[in-house]
Amino acid sequence: MKILLTGAAGQLGQALRQQVPEGIELIATSRNGDSATGLLPLDLGDAAACRAAVLEHRPDWVLNGGAYTAVDRAESEPELAQAVNGGAPRAFAEALADTGGRLLQVSTDFVFNGQQGSPYRPEQSRDPLGAYGRTKAAGEEAVEQVLGDTGRGVILRTSWVMGPVGKNFALTMLRLHRERGASGQALGVVEDQVGCPTSTATLAAACWRAIAVMDTPSGLPAMLHWSDAGAASWYDVAVAVGELGVELGLLQQPAPVNPLTTAEYPLPAQRPSYSLLECSASRQALDLPALHWRQALRQLLEAVA
Ligand SMILES: NC(=O)c1ccc[n+]([C@@H]2O[C@H](COP(=O)([O-])OP(=O)(O)OC[C@H]3O[C@@H](n4cnc5c(N)ncnc54)[C@H](OP(=O)(O)O)[C@@H]3O)[C@@H](O)[C@H]2O)c1
Repeated sequence: MKILLTGAAGQLGQALRQQVPEGIELIATSRNGDSATGLLPLDLGDAAACRAAVLEHRPDWVLNGGAYTAVDRAESEPELAQAVNGGAPRAFAEALADTGGRLLQVSTDFVFNGQQGSPYRPEQSRDPLGAYGRTKAAGEEAVEQVLGDTGRGVILRTSWVMGPVGKNFALTMLRLHRERGASGQALGVVEDQVGCPTSTATLAAACWRAIAVMDTPSGLPAMLHWSDAGAASWYDVAVAVGELGVELGLLQQPAPVNPLTTAEYPLPAQRPSYSLLECSASRQALDLPALHWRQALRQLLEAVA
């Protein structure tokens, strides 16, 4: 089976490349390509290039793991975010409609407004709060519009993605604990936004599983939700990174962590205050067990060590 992967240099992309199942021919792409690691260049902001890549390689699946993920910067660059997060999925979907291939579009909890106070089910309506969420929602809509009737478009929403490489909250907290632990200088971390961390390792496994399950008689729902299990605030995750960091020998001493309100830590983009994804139906469809976010975080930090 031939898979065209985008965002191969991102944190999810790297985990996907580490877990490629047997029998997969992977065409891995990143923004600029990298001949040393075999990545081909593909600019997701260039819809014509996205269409051309599908027509050239004729993959069985496009796994669209790349995205414009800078949530705050998207507020001041909405056109670029829209081109990458909305335009590329549309271009892939249109080309795949012609070639007969399938699309796995990775999406986000930020398509929801976070106001209902209970986990979001896959079929619930989108209502994003910021530019990043709006552009990811546009990507979802494009996949549904173009491939919805064919059953060849699958959207997998996830949340709070963290891995042992790349730029993410867990690694930022580890660095800050290291920098401040010895002096006892406290970190301030938001406590009133609740969601669930998701490790790139479990997320990559879910993506590959989705592709495998699609070809079984049970098939796959068109909308999947995947996160690690449990619930947490950013503050909880920051405290856990300190505790696990010490336990694993990555830190001498954690820094004290002070809980903050969102109002005390203003950022350009508004974020959902409660964006847990209801994942039980997807876990069943994928036949994958739930891993508690703290265990997944431990495995992530073990991979850093
Ligand atoms: N990170 C999260 O917390 C989170 C939460 C929910 C859902 N998601 C979704 O999960 C997926 C994977 O995200 P991630 O966490 O792995 O993000 P990431 O580490 O930021 O990776 C995204 C990759 O996309 C690439 N990219 C951006 N613009 C591009 C362009 N114009 N052309 C080609 N490549 C481009 C980036 O390259 P550059 O580094 O060169 O920009 C980066 O390598 C995305 O669909 C994201 O929306 C992420």
